[in-house]
Amino acid sequence: MATVTLINNETGEKFDFDLIECTRGPKAVDFSKLFEKTGIFSYDPGYGSTAGCQSTISYINGQEGQLLYKGMPIQDIVDKYSFTDVAKLLITGEAPKNKDESVEFELELRHRSFLNERLINILSAFPDSAHPMANLSSAVAALSTFHYDYRDPDNRDEYQVMARRIIAKIPTLVAFSYRHSIGAPFIYPDISRGYVENFLYMLRAYPGNRLKYTKDGETEITPLEVEALDKIFTLHADHGQNASTTTVRNVASTGVHPYAALSAGINALWGPSHGGANEKVLDQLREIGDVKNVSKFIERVKDKSDPFRLMGFGHRVYKSYDPRAKAIKNLKNELNKKGIKMDARLSEIAEALEEVALSDEYFIKRGLYPNVDFYSGIILTALKIPVSLFTPIFVIGRMPGWSAQLIEHLKNPHARITRPRQVYVGK
Ligand code: ACO
Repeated sequence: MATVTLINNETGEKFDFDLIECTRGPKAVDFSKLFEKTGIFSYDPGYGSTAGCQSTISYINGQEGQLLYKGMPIQDIVDKYSFTDVAKLLITGEAPKNKDESVEFELELRHRSFLNERLINILSAFPDSAHPMANLSSAVAALSTFHYDYRDPDNRDEYQVMARRIIAKIPTLVAFSYRHSIGAPFIYPDISRGYVENFLYMLRAYPGNRLKYTKDGETEITPLEVEALDKIFTLHADHGQNASTTTVRNVASTGVHPYAALSAGINALWGPSHGGANEKVLDQLREIGDVKNVSKFIERVKDKSDPFRLMGFGHRVYKSYDPRAKAIKNLKNELNKKGIKMDARLSEIAEALEEVALSDEYFIKRGLYPNVDFYSGIILTALKIPVSLFTPIFVIGRMPGWSAQLIEHLKNPHARITRPRQVYVGK
């Protein structure tokens, strides 16, 4: 096995550490015995150079702007599979082999989409003014009280039920959280509708379970709208060891109920540096208001005395164009052509911002490109989805990834409780 040698220049001592082989990307030095061997810690705040686990689920090449799910490029995945196929791929390791398997899995999710009435009572008790993300993380934590099983590490089937149940219920929870936040009555799932269509239906339907009426009759949820949202979910399905996935793994490492770990992941995603950025991007585009204000805005972003950042730009791993952002931008243009009209003013401001940023020395030097959150809000707005639901939509998309990562963690007999050290600088 290849090794690296660490030399302590103070004492002259030399220590060898194994290099762990990988199938793609940089190798890692196994520093798990660093302290035992040397009496010193490694220091890496924010974990920019630290691999916290070995994983087989997704792979990101940040220099080349590449993302793979289970070894397949993201664009091929989006073209070939529905979101529920991707969910199956991530949590079981195998995509459905044929149409029957695909339908069977999706039907299972439809049938699991209902919520316990007591859980609905809990949701109803939250204040109307709550953000849907707060309702959502609380509801997922509460789900652990309704399904107090899945604790047997030897029973692998339990993990599958745990994952399928939460993937099935999360759109219902998001829709209910939103309807509650605007004081609207809940619309229960309609199992005659597919996974994605049902979500739009639970958001849009009126009491009496009818969609909006116009002079031409009841409006439909169109296949194009369903396809657009399906693709957005797929593009968010997994992304290596990002902050929320790491949170899920860290919390799970203490042996808690899986839904408690997933609830923690939802909270981690909410922050504007992570999934909460999609909401902030739209706020920023609206604040800019007009293309003529773009350069003034860029100057403010570059001003180091101002902590202001361009939301939807930059990424810890990608130092080139985020492939998800590329796919979402293409999707936006494609949908616009096919008849889902994007807000022309917002779209124009976003593209102008991107153009200026990509040719500006500040952004080039730091490798700052649009990330997944930059264009998604424009599509979601065109799908009549309110801004407060942008991050909950990300949660629906990411739930298969979190579940798969959680299962991978639970199955690993060598996984230890996460317990980093500190460099003490106090009294
Ligand atoms: N606008 C302006 N400058 C930026 C931005 C930005 N969006 N992002 C990074 N920078 C600058 C920093 O000021 C820093 O400059 P410096 O070297 O002169 O100090 C440099 O680029 C490196 O930035 P870091 O903060 O060290 O990068 P880090 O990897 O820690 O942060 C993050 C990544 C949080 C995504 C950051 O780029 C950011 O805040 N982006 C805006 C929020 C956002 O869009 N988040 C969503 C990310 S995708 C996701 O989580 C789903």
